[in-house]
Amino acid sequence: MKLFLDTGEVGQVQKAAELGILDGVTTNPTLIAKAGKGFRDTVLEICAALPGGAISAEVVATDYDEMLREAMEIASWHEQIVIKVPMIRDGVRLVSTLSDRGIRTNVTLVFSVTQALLAAKAGATYISNFVGRVDDIGGDGMEAVAATVEMIEAYGYASEVLVASVRHQQHMVQAIAAGAHVATLPFNVFEQMVKHPLTDLGLERFLADWRDAGLTIRSGTVAG
Ligand code: E4P
Repeated sequence: MKLFLDTGEVGQVQKAAELGILDGVTTNPTLIAKAGKGFRDTVLEICAALPGGAISAEVVATDYDEMLREAMEIASWHEQIVIKVPMIRDGVRLVSTLSDRGIRTNVTLVFSVTQALLAAKAGATYISNFVGRVDDIGGDGMEAVAATVEMIEAYGYASEVLVASVRHQQHMVQAIAAGAHVATLPFNVFEQMVKHPLTDLGLERFLADWRDAGLTIRSGTVAG
């Protein structure tokens, strides 16, 4: 499973990248606006912070011609960039065009398996299925993820199912169970993944026992 960070904050990307397990970053217009710097500069700094990673940057036009212009410009900035395209009619058309041109895409704001089918047929590299926003209104966001993974595998499409709008660890547990190919995580959820209270307790005990026995790595026991 690939792990992406969902952020516009370069510092968060640098910190997460230190672990050596980060595969990419997703941004969106809200996250870029929140980061408070220019779009191009932010995206390029994120590319530099994660060499080789897949960095999603989103078009903001909603008609085909303008979206295509934006996509071609954004794609020209850096080879790591994946063009993020909203799941609208002109967006599907744009993804078909970009696929023909060999440009990677991430179809965003996908909420149903039928939308996902259109994205897959258009040749999307990633299909971003939002779960938290569905849960927020009382639904079960993970249902569409499971159905989409099944659909992709049954028909052999090349698209990867990306679980987006992740809010907490339980979403990650469910995404893994559904066999999702990618998850994009807010920084706090990414950081929490390393933690378990029994790990902390266990380590505390190991270190206390070692200390009490007077052991050292080199000589076995502390002199005196
Ligand atoms: C995905 O690429 C989106 O940027 C993101 O996951 C949206 O999450 P939100 O519902 O927390 O805004």
